[in-house]
Amino acid sequence: METVREIEEILRECGRIILEADRKNAGINEKSGKANLVTVYDKRVQDVLQEKLLKVLPEAVFIGEEEDVHKAAGNGYAFIVDPIDGTTNFIKDYRFSCISVGLLKDRNPYIGVVYNPYSDEMFSAKTGEGAYLNGRQIHVSGNTLDKGIVIFGTAPYYEEFSRKTFDIVYEYFKKCMDIRRSGSAALDMCYVAAGRAEMYFELRVCPWDICAGTVIVTEAGGKVHTMEGENVTMDKPCSIKATNGLCI
Ligand code: IPD
Ligand code: CA
Ligand code: CA
Repeated sequence: METVREIEEILRECGRIILEADRKNAGINEKSGKANLVTVYDKRVQDVLQEKLLKVLPEAVFIGEEEDVHKAAGNGYAFIVDPIDGTTNFIKDYRFSCISVGLLKDRNPYIGVVYNPYSDEMFSAKTGEGAYLNGRQIHVSGNTLDKGIVIFGTAPYYEEFSRKTFDIVYEYFKKCMDIRRSGSAALDMCYVAAGRAEMYFELRVCPWDICAGTVIVTEAGGKVHTMEGENVTMDKPCSIKATNGLCI
């Protein structure tokens, strides 16, 4: 777990950047599409991640959401990072955002670390070694859908998915205990892993949204697939359904 500990330390440092941010001067810019926002802090955190993570594993490829650092991951190690997952929440001071760092080994999710600086919650997992929240092992819940919370995501900039998403949400709403939409895909996955929710789904996510969470949910005993039941992809966008294994 040595690498995991080192990544956790880097994420704590990045968390301080987010907590101490001068949000009124965050330099908010629109990327392509409706409400697809980026701030100077997304870029600043990504720069710190790139510099420090590559000191931990110099041989790794670094893939980050911002600044088009979208190289291909081949065999060997590749970091896939989202410097702020929940940028809209960050801009609004909604206080539900995280830093998400996934590490692929030979193209497969291998390590995941997700840190929410607002709640000081560090979720981490390494393949074969279980999933942890602040050092304590976590596990998905044993609840069926009628006793479950279903979390969904849908980004305003993927307008073509919104109608179908809300139709699916309505179907789940009739069958589950309640519905949530948080604004951070990585934390949504961690909440399933920790047994706080039973399912998270979204019709289009990118590898940096889900790489870390995939390891964390799987190591917590849950299941991660696309909406069609295929493996999620780490080289292109896909849909996702992460569950406790009982809710479909
Ligand atoms: C977004 C959040 C959101 C999800 C979007 C993501 P960002 O990431 O995770 O919950 O619905 O699909 O793009 O833009 O805040 O990093
Ligand atoms: Ca994201
Ligand atoms: Ca982001």
